[in-house]
Amino acid sequence: MKIKIRVPATTANLGPGFDVFGAALSLYNEFEAEYVPNAKKTKFWLKGEGKKTLPKGEKNVLWKAMSETFQLLGCGKYNLKNLNITIKTGIPLSGGLGSSASAIIGGIALANALCGGKLTKAQIARLGMKIEGHPDNIAPAVYGGLCICYKNEDGANEVMGLPVPKMKVVMCVPSFELRTKRSRQALPKNIDLQTAVFNTSRVALLTAAFCTGNYKLLRQGMEDKFHQPYRGKMIPAMDNIIKAAVDNGAYGAFLSGSGPSIAAFCDRRVCEKVEKAMVKVWKKESVAVKSYILDFDNKGVVTAE
Ligand code: HSE
Repeated sequence: MKIKIRVPATTANLGPGFDVFGAALSLYNEFEAEYVPNAKKTKFWLKGEGKKTLPKGEKNVLWKAMSETFQLLGCGKYNLKNLNITIKTGIPLSGGLGSSASAIIGGIALANALCGGKLTKAQIARLGMKIEGHPDNIAPAVYGGLCICYKNEDGANEVMGLPVPKMKVVMCVPSFELRTKRSRQALPKNIDLQTAVFNTSRVALLTAAFCTGNYKLLRQGMEDKFHQPYRGKMIPAMDNIIKAAVDNGAYGAFLSGSGPSIAAFCDRRVCEKVEKAMVKVWKKESVAVKSYILDFDNKGVVTAE
């Protein structure tokens, strides 16, 4: 038996929606597991981004998520010896594009499929959030589209989908890494009332833009005072890159997740111009950058052919 799973990249926060908003994008990781009943040696292949740096075997995040799922499902038949595993990564690592959420959801979905596919998407999401702790990356990786993540009165994570915008996403990924843990350490412990009111107003505009299709609201709707000003200190020219995107016709731009990638939402007619302008600012800072023009992914995790 061979199972292949595809999981999209995600972009979180969308400016002011810190730890709440997330969207799935058309850039993918693929994970494959083949059951070889009498095999005696681990076969673990890595292809694409991180093939030289990611751990193989039991230290790999994919395997950790798989073994936790096997345990949950009481499915003890599989181990690292009788499964041949291949990871094909298309999502840049530690760039703020949800690469670890993708591996966790890939691992849960792979293990679930091997054990008969009993878990629903909601159960996959819940387990993923327990392992990863960043619902705003996990939810879109599971469901696709644009997600609002919140906790209910019992502290359980809930997800609500918003209409998927008809536009392109320009994503600029610089060559340096910024780990989420470090990027979160730079944030203040408390926020004052005025700042909270500012971000509440921006989240209201952001939500209105997606619900009404009036994307012009995104320029202000993507402004943020909760996390970007602090993380910006570790990301050269972040404000200038966001400004370059908007000045060249993007509806709005923001730091993708915990960074250092920067994303711009724009109409397809201006996306190439926006991409060029953003890349130019990075280059001026002598930072090598990879750029992508992406769509929103509507499916989330799927079994691939
Ligand atoms: N909302 C999380 C953060 C996303 O900004 O730290 C992590 O990718």
